[in-house]
Amino acid sequence: MPYATLALAREDAVAVLTFNRPDKLNAINREVLSELHQALDALAAAEGVRAIILTGAGEKAFVAGADVSEFTTMTPVAAMQFGQDLGWAIQKIARMPKPVIAAVNGFCLGGGCELALGCDFIYAAENARFGQPEINLGIIPGSGGTQRLPRLVGKARAKELIFTGNRIDAQEALRIGLVNRVLLLAELLPAAKETAAKMAAKSAVVLGLAKAAIEEGTATDLMSGLAIEAKAFGLAFSTEDMREGVTAFLQKGKATFRHR
Ligand code: COA
Repeated sequence: MPYATLALAREDAVAVLTFNRPDKLNAINREVLSELHQALDALAAAEGVRAIILTGAGEKAFVAGADVSEFTTMTPVAAMQFGQDLGWAIQKIARMPKPVIAAVNGFCLGGGCELALGCDFIYAAENARFGQPEINLGIIPGSGGTQRLPRLVGKARAKELIFTGNRIDAQEALRIGLVNRVLLLAELLPAAKETAAKMAAKSAVVLGLAKAAIEEGTATDLMSGLAIEAKAFGLAFSTEDMREGVTAFLQKGKATFRHR
C-alpha cells in the first residue's frame, strides 16, 4: 500500500520503512502516526518479512520528534492520547517477533528517540544527534522516553538527558550504550541491511522466541525472567528449525531454516 508520509521497500526478507517528511525533518504528526500503525501491522503480518529497518528520508534527520505544530491545539486529554498512540506503535515494534533495527541518520529527538529506543538496537551515522528535548518545550517525553532510556543507559544518564534537553552526538551515544555501532552515513543502510539479512536467515520463529524472552524477561525480576527463558528454550525444541540446526551442526553442514 502506498503511504503519503512513509516509504516502504523490500529486499528479500528485509523491509526498510522510511519516515518520509524530509522538509519537516520527518516529524511525526497524526497522519504519520496513523500510517505508522498501518505499516507496522502490515509488516508484522507479512510472512516473508523477517527483519525490519527503520530510517529517515534525507541526510538530516531520522525523526526530529513529534510535530510540535500540532501541540498548540491539543487538549491535555488529546496530548495523552497522542503520546499513548505513539507509545503503542513503539510497543508494536518492541513486541513484534521480528528484529527491528533503527538506522539513525541525523536528528533523533523526542518521539524519534523514543521510537529508536523501542527498536531492538540502533545503528547510528556519524551525523546522528540524540536527545529528549521536551523539557525545552515545557513538557516531558510521553511515549516511553522516561522508561526505556533509563533502562538502556542507566537512570543517572537518562535523567541528565531528560532534565537538560541536551543533544549528544553519535560517539557519545556509543559510549553510553545507546547505540550499538557508529558508521559513515554512506555505510549506515548497507551495514543495517547486512545485519538484517543475517538475522533474517536464522529461524524466524526461534528468533521471535529469543526476542520475547528478552523483552518479557527484562520487564520483570530475574527469577521470573529465567522462568520465561526456560519455557521459551523448551518451546524452541518443538520446531523443525531446531532439528535442522542441530542435525546440520552434527553433520558438519550448514542449516537451512524454514521458519517453522
Ligand atoms: N515538529 C514540527 N516541525 C519540525 C520539527 C518538529 N519536531 N522539527 C523540525 N521541524 C521543521 C521546522 O519547523 C522547519 O520547518 P519550516 O522549514 O517549515 O520552518 C523544518 O522542520 C526544518 O527544521 P529547522 O529547525 O529549520 O532545521 P535546523 O537545522 O535549523 O534545526 C533542529 C534542526 C532539529 C535542531 C530543530 O528543527 C528542532 O529543534 N526541532 C524540534 C525538536 C524537538 O523539540 N523535538 C521534540 C518534540 S516533542
